[in-house]
Amino acid sequence: MTTSSGDKKRDHFSLQCFSCKTEYKIDDYGKFYHCQKCGDLLEVVLRPGAGKLSFSDKLPGIWKYMDVLPLWNSANIVSLSEGGTPLLECRNLGRKLGLDALYVKFEGLNPTGSFKDRGMTVGISKAKELGYERTMCASTGNTSASLAAYAAKAQMRCIVLVPKGKIAMGKMAQAIAYGAEIFQVDGNFDDSLRVASDICERDNATLLLNSLNPFRIEGQKTVSFEIVEQLGGGVPDALVLPVGNGGNISAAWKGFTELFHGGLGNLFGIDDHRSEGPRMIGVQAAGAAPIAKAFKEGIEDAIEPVSEPHTEASAINIGSPVSWRKVLSAIYSSKGLADSVTDEEIFSAQQLLASSEGLFVEPASATPIAFLVKSAGQRSEEFERLKDKVVVCICTGNGLKDPNALLKTIRPDQIQTISADARSLETVLA
Ligand code: F0G
Repeated sequence: MTTSSGDKKRDHFSLQCFSCKTEYKIDDYGKFYHCQKCGDLLEVVLRPGAGKLSFSDKLPGIWKYMDVLPLWNSANIVSLSEGGTPLLECRNLGRKLGLDALYVKFEGLNPTGSFKDRGMTVGISKAKELGYERTMCASTGNTSASLAAYAAKAQMRCIVLVPKGKIAMGKMAQAIAYGAEIFQVDGNFDDSLRVASDICERDNATLLLNSLNPFRIEGQKTVSFEIVEQLGGGVPDALVLPVGNGGNISAAWKGFTELFHGGLGNLFGIDDHRSEGPRMIGVQAAGAAPIAKAFKEGIEDAIEPVSEPHTEASAINIGSPVSWRKVLSAIYSSKGLADSVTDEEIFSAQQLLASSEGLFVEPASATPIAFLVKSAGQRSEEFERLKDKVVVCICTGNGLKDPNALLKTIRPDQIQTISADARSLETVLA
């Protein structure tokens, strides 16, 4: 199949309700955002047989996977060369924690500094293909920065809603620079998303590009393909990710599901004996942890939203994750788990990762490391399962986006003042 044979390509994909499996036409997305029968989220499904595809090395960024992404015409691609982020082996940190094979997939090296760019290139390209000129999102910061950048590249209008006073200034500065129309909502992220969804449900000319948008999820699933390629066809035993609204962990699991059950595995040279993906481990901040709570209580089909979520890891300060059903499904089907870590554990892990490996990630992105540090400290049963396995943490965003959060936590002795002569420094260093 070539990338331009749109009609043929259409036959390989469908849009389905995640719960009741009612099918819709992909190109009708945006006229509605939820299943018209049961109200759940929609997802793009690769039909059986779509596995006999090939990958292109001529297209930019994640579009090398064009054949498994729901865009019909490559002329509609809007890319900033996203994806292709490094998978770094973390031997220093692994040794400190007692983990044999610890890796970080550093998504902070995407064009706007977070994993969101993988999804946004597909979201905006599809918006272009469907004829939209106006896009909108609600965001804790990174989605707004990413949407604003891709909308600028496509020269589309971009409206972002952010919770007032609750997003990192680096992310706000990005959205301003890229030319977004920014509105601060007097409320939290969940309120902002409710407002954005209400508007887009009523206004068919504006496409909502939050992670409930299945095209975003399609782009984000490519992280799993890359990890497998970077491990030389290997599959991690565990994938540890931060969870906010739940799009990313759902997308990563979808990527692995397609590799194993969608017949794409051979394209990546996956070991024949592997038939299942990694255990998915979702980590939330303790003040915003409805998924972790449901998991601890053994609940598979409900969450109890947190009405006033609070964490300094502002990217994941979300009390009512829209993709909760997909998240719990990914966690239970992969025999994974969900847990939470305190802000103190998050900031300590952020500095530990940076000082051990030279990797500066934003607070939300340090939650997987915080989980491993906590498990190692407790010598928990989970830690015993992981210690000699391949563990990949997805560190979702760049630390430079939110330096203030870290600077608030430093001790006075971490920056000292000296007088302007060498002797005074020598005395301190002695
Ligand atoms: N890490 C970072 C750096 C994020 O910005 C987000 C989400 C997550 C993790 C969680 O991912 O929502 O897919 O479970 N940020 C969104 C935003 C909500 O608006 O930027 P998720």
